[in-house]
Amino acid sequence: MSKARLGVNIDHVATVRNARGENYPSPLRAALDAELHGADGITAHLREDRRHILDKDIEDLIGNLKIPLNLEMAATEEMLLIALNHKPNACCIVPEKREEITTEGGIDTVKNFKTLKNYTSQIRDNGSRVSLFIDADKVQIDNCKKIGADIIEIHTGKYCQLIETDSPSAGIELEKIVLMSEYAASIGLEIHAGHGITFNSIKPLAKIQSIKEFNIGHFIIGESIFMGLEKTIKKMKSLILES
Ligand code: PXP
Repeated sequence: MSKARLGVNIDHVATVRNARGENYPSPLRAALDAELHGADGITAHLREDRRHILDKDIEDLIGNLKIPLNLEMAATEEMLLIALNHKPNACCIVPEKREEITTEGGIDTVKNFKTLKNYTSQIRDNGSRVSLFIDADKVQIDNCKKIGADIIEIHTGKYCQLIETDSPSAGIELEKIVLMSEYAASIGLEIHAGHGITFNSIKPLAKIQSIKEFNIGHFIIGESIFMGLEKTIKKMKSLILES
């Protein structure tokens, strides 16, 4: 039985709040509800353009959560200071482009090797775990190990899109995730996975024993409109545990 943890990403509660410039719905309230109903962690992405999560949200989450916070962030000087100041349980380094709708691919650890090594060592030395968001690729995984990351988070976006559209290529993409998760675990990395995961795509992904955590946001928040946050989280958790 898979014992993978469920990390709930609350960015899109902040998206709805910011759409009207009010102070509701509250990302902290969503995070505390998620905690109450079985989430094992909370993820929040503080983007450079502050399009959803704001600095105050991070302060509120750090001050009130009992479960771990995974702070998603780009490798910028500004984010480094925030991460060092708040010392979240984990910092997940993601590539970030202002013009993108969401994180489109994994970080390039080949092009950014030196910068990432120096950058992430400061976060680790300060007591947070370091996660690198990458595509399921051996070169990227080997680099994560050399950089000194504790965790890799595998970008599942492409696979999830393929499975949602019943594409015959979904199987090939899943196989890649399986093989690369097993390889990464064999060299001592902790494996997380996230992006685009739904009730459909979690079932095959949760069968991969080496994946220890799933970070899921957009679908959970969207589905909560119909099912409520409690039922949505409980269903996602049970799909993880049953797989
Ligand atoms: N993991 C990472 C590193 C991400 O960037 C995101 C999106 O913010 C997620 C997980 C969650 O993706 P989704 O909102 O599609 O579930």
